[in-house]
Amino acid sequence: MTLLTILRYPDPRLQQVAKPVAAVDARLRQLADAMFATMYEAAGIGLAATQVNVHERLIVIDASETRDQPLVLINPEIVWASAETRLGEEGCLSVPGIYDGVERSLAVRVEALDLDGKRQTHEAEGMLAVCIQHEMDHLMGKVFVDYLSPLKRNRIKAKMVKQKKDEERDAAPRQR
Ligand code: NI
Repeated sequence: MTLLTILRYPDPRLQQVAKPVAAVDARLRQLADAMFATMYEAAGIGLAATQVNVHERLIVIDASETRDQPLVLINPEIVWASAETRLGEEGCLSVPGIYDGVERSLAVRVEALDLDGKRQTHEAEGMLAVCIQHEMDHLMGKVFVDYLSPLKRNRIKAKMVKQKKDEERDAAPRQR
C-alpha cells in the first residue's frame, strides 16, 4: 500500500481551498485507500485530502478506539451544528507534537457522498463531531492553529520550521 506524504504546517499548500470531487470513481477509491493507510500508519484519527496535497473535498476518518470504523466523506457539508460548544484539546498530523484547545460544536449533522457515490447523512457527537469539524476546516484551507492567538501561532510556526530543518540535517549524508 502506498503511503502518502503529509504536508506539514506552515506549508502554504495547506491553505488551498479544495474543489468538489467531480466523480466517485476508481481513482477516488484508490486515493481514499491510500489516505486510510497513511492515517492509520501515522496513528491519526482523520485526514483531509488537502493534507496529502490533493485539493478535492475528500476526508477519511476513524475516531473509534478499535480502529475499525472507517468513514469516508466526499463533498461533505455540515447541515446542522449544535449551538452548544466545548473547548477541547486538538492535534493534527500536519502539526506533529502540538496540542491546543479549540472551541467546537458538541454535535453536527453532515451530508456527504460515500464511496458508492450515495448521499448519506451522519449524526456525530463527541470526538467524531470534533474530528469532522477539524477535517472540514482543512478543506477550506484552515489548520487548527489558525484559531490560536498570533503569539502562539508564531511560536508553533518557528518550532515547525526548526523541526523540519533538524530533520533535513539529520537525513543529509555526513560531511567531513
Ligand atoms: Ni488536521
